[in-house]
Amino acid sequence: MQSDLACINVACGARYGITEVLYNCPKCTGLLEARYEFGDPDVAALQRTWRERRMSNAPLDQSGVWRYRELFPFVDDDRHIVTLREGNTPLLKGPRAAEYGGLDQITFKHQGFNPTGSFKDNGMTAGVAQARRLGMKRVACVSTGNTSASMAAYASAGGLEPLIFIPHGNISYGKLAQALDYGARTFQVEANFDQILALVRVLAERLGIYLLNSINPFRIEGQKSIVIEMMDQRDWQPPDWIVLPGGNLGNTSAFGKGLREMHELGLIRRLPRLAVVQAEGASPFYEYMRCEGRTPFIATEHPETLATAIKIGDPVSWPKAQFEVETTNGVVERVTEQEIADAKAIIGQCGIGCEPASAATLAGIRKLTAAGVIARDADVVAVLTGNVLKDPDYIYRYHTGQLKGPGDCPIQPNFGNRPVVVPNDADRITELIK
Ligand code: F0G
Repeated sequence: MQSDLACINVACGARYGITEVLYNCPKCTGLLEARYEFGDPDVAALQRTWRERRMSNAPLDQSGVWRYRELFPFVDDDRHIVTLREGNTPLLKGPRAAEYGGLDQITFKHQGFNPTGSFKDNGMTAGVAQARRLGMKRVACVSTGNTSASMAAYASAGGLEPLIFIPHGNISYGKLAQALDYGARTFQVEANFDQILALVRVLAERLGIYLLNSINPFRIEGQKSIVIEMMDQRDWQPPDWIVLPGGNLGNTSAFGKGLREMHELGLIRRLPRLAVVQAEGASPFYEYMRCEGRTPFIATEHPETLATAIKIGDPVSWPKAQFEVETTNGVVERVTEQEIADAKAIIGQCGIGCEPASAATLAGIRKLTAAGVIARDADVVAVLTGNVLKDPDYIYRYHTGQLKGPGDCPIQPNFGNRPVVVPNDADRITELIK
């Protein structure tokens, strides 16, 4: 099947070969995306094939990404693919969270069940496949944690050398530990995410290293599988809303592209609306989208939030995300540190853990239902992007009333659950439990 890299800028529309190492359009600097001539496939046959692959023992069929490979047919040789059986993440109900969010029901699509604990694995398996196909030896990324853990795992599994750049002192041990264990060369840089991304782009160019941040179009192709799998799990019935946190906005871009392509192919009959939620201290996309006139995009110079995964002030994929949010008649919301922390505790009470950035979804839903944007009886899927064990320190501090937001602002343990210190005395403990 014909596949190209295309500039998303309609005024430019330049096309490039799928094996060119490009991240931006050389003509106009616009973002690039993979484009295919899908033709007119037999949709029912595809849906049947994808179901049958769930019973297969073949590694690619067992992957919740590559099972749907017909929708991102950019690889020309399956031997380039490295799979750790990513995807295959569940849809979970959370009645307590629904009530808190002002909804009759809510469904969580939990990407934290991935091999390295986040949705990045869906994209990384695709990015690493392309790196191997291109004959790259080294891959690099800047990361607030999840991307680095994921890239380290997939690169090492695929015999590539992973180079990781992280903001010094601003990454959780749960993530740094993974990168070290998976053998990545790890550089802690005295700068924030946006500054380090600019640095890594220079180094990638200079040293011929393949860049695996979400500006890489093949990462986006892999992340499309999150919504494809979601629709398959829902028997191709789209929800009214898909809610997700927004940082660098790669995932928003991937979800929108995946939904559009499924809609154009006739796999789903309508587009769900996207709701993107940002943290108040790192919400340039919210600010940009809320002005009707669309004034120039203004980056946040010093982004601040305890939800480190979305602590990004200059999201590279905002033009793609804008297009996708507008195409789905979507919305962008923002939430405070207190709202994120409380929503996270409520999700936890459902027996479902997630990291702070993921909990921004429920906090956003609560605001959007209160404002009448999302109806109480709407069918809503919130995407929990990362695993609860990324930030155990945050959790302990919240529940014990020690959590402080940016500027040392105390966060109240409104749903706190403090551990109790007791003597080694069965009678005293019996009294307490009674
Ligand atoms: N949720 C989690 C758990 C993340 O790790 C990220 C991004 C996001 C949401 C935001 O997604 O950038 O596609 O809008 N984490 C990156 C990293 C920045 O380095 O791991 P986005």
